[in-house]
Amino acid sequence: MPRVIVVDPSHPHETAIAEAAGVLARGGLVAFPTETVYGLGARGLHGDDVQKIFLAKKRPHGHPLILHTDGEAMASGITSRWSEQASQLARTFWPGPLTLVVARGGHVPLEVTGGLDSVGVRVPNHPVARALIRTVGEPLAAPSANAHTHVSPTTAEHVVRSLGDAVDLVLDGGPCAFGIESTVLSLAVDPPRVLRPGALSLERLRTIVPQVVFESITVAGDATRTSPGLSHKHYCPLARMTLADNADAIAEDMRRARAASRSVCAIVWSSRARQAVPDALRTKIITLPDNAEAYAHALFAALYDVDASGCEEVIVERVPDHPAWWAVADRLRRAASPT
Ligand code: TXA
Ligand code: MG
Repeated sequence: MPRVIVVDPSHPHETAIAEAAGVLARGGLVAFPTETVYGLGARGLHGDDVQKIFLAKKRPHGHPLILHTDGEAMASGITSRWSEQASQLARTFWPGPLTLVVARGGHVPLEVTGGLDSVGVRVPNHPVARALIRTVGEPLAAPSANAHTHVSPTTAEHVVRSLGDAVDLVLDGGPCAFGIESTVLSLAVDPPRVLRPGALSLERLRTIVPQVVFESITVAGDATRTSPGLSHKHYCPLARMTLADNADAIAEDMRRARAASRSVCAIVWSSRARQAVPDALRTKIITLPDNAEAYAHALFAALYDVDASGCEEVIVERVPDHPAWWAVADRLRRAASPT
């Protein structure tokens, strides 16, 4: 078990932050809360420290990490080009769940960017994260604090379950407000392109960047190097996940799993789907809210619950085909991906 320090999420105590900063200064790894999900942090300008993140997550090298800063000034310091557009986005959406991919500054280690000439940066809207960055005095590199391809953590308990002793210290600031990762926007291409849908909606992004491009695509092989967030398999529970189109398909899939003697459960959002499940299997249903934001907030925790219950298979009701659900639909598609 790693050490866990409970902190007040809005007014973290100085001693807790100083202790965590000390672990980072000695080259260790600290998991900390952000408004999206928990991050696994290391000093972002120290290549050797950043390497440890990859080992802890068992993440393949060459996947770029996000640098977290305490404000726009520190963010603009890690890039060779901070455009007027970047500044406008920063003033509008930071602190908050938007990651900007910009040109890499010469002093940013290639370990952070996976060898790319661009770097992702964001200012988290969480007092614990920002106090930690300020105290350390440099950007923190932090991917989501889960083992590679596994579900992102929205509580400190999830971090401990996913990473165990691979992390030196966990700051427990309670559950994350959004529960889904930041939207990643590349300003390194023209017009700007969304590389990962996330907690900041396309609608809000378009108020500042009307020409933004978003295609819901996955890429494989070499192409994952430049757009790693688009690779297939990701966010996976241990249980095998199947997406079901409608209420009948859920009932059918659950019967099929039962007939094959596999323990099965379901995650639904519509009352129709809930009612379609046979009485004998009703106890195995997790019902999530029917609005996109509240659903996103609860999804990863539900997947951790599925695994804690030991279910071998989980049937998930497909979510509405509507822009408000963009981030959730993306996560479900990748989590259910066989490869
Ligand atoms: O909400 C979040 O973004 C969380 C919290 C901890 O901040 N972090 C997170 O990090 O989700 P991670 O490593 O799990 O995902 C980072 C995403 C990946 O999709 C990665 O490909 C993309 O950001 N990314 C980062 N730097 C990039 C770059 N230079 N070029 C292209 N994509 C980049
Ligand atoms: Mg992640």
